[in-house]
Amino acid sequence: MKQNLLLLSDRKYAVALSSGTAALHLALLSNNIGQGDLVLTSSMTFAATANAIVYSGATPYFIDSDLRTGNIDTVLLEDTIRNLHDRNVKVSAIVPVDLLGKTANYSELLRDI
Ligand SMILES: Cc1ncc(COP(=O)(O)O)c(C=O)c1O
Repeated sequence: MKQNLLLLSDRKYAVALSSGTAALHLALLSNNIGQGDLVLTSSMTFAATANAIVYSGATPYFIDSDLRTGNIDTVLLEDTIRNLHDRNVKVSAIVPVDLLGKTANYSELLRDI
């Protein structure tokens, strides 16, 4: 299976996991997210998203949804990051969720703030 994933993804390494929660958890750990980190994520999601953040030792911080898509509201996200920054609170990561067949607004999410 891993060999097929390598071929399909055109990557050097692949890991097969037992669940989406494990994949999210591992993604956070491999990005050095742990105790003391604050991770922003979408408020409308499955428990797996927040569980993975908590399993890594970090704290989830929920951002409300864009009314059109149900995915993370990028305007609210930017406001929140600025507010947290003004209070000297560091954001360590953002875990967007692609909900109900609609992808999150990655062009906005990947834009420099
Ligand atoms: C948003 C989201 N993330 C992750 C998962 C993965 O969950 P599981 O650990 O059950 O595979 C799901 C499953 O429905 C999901 O809806």
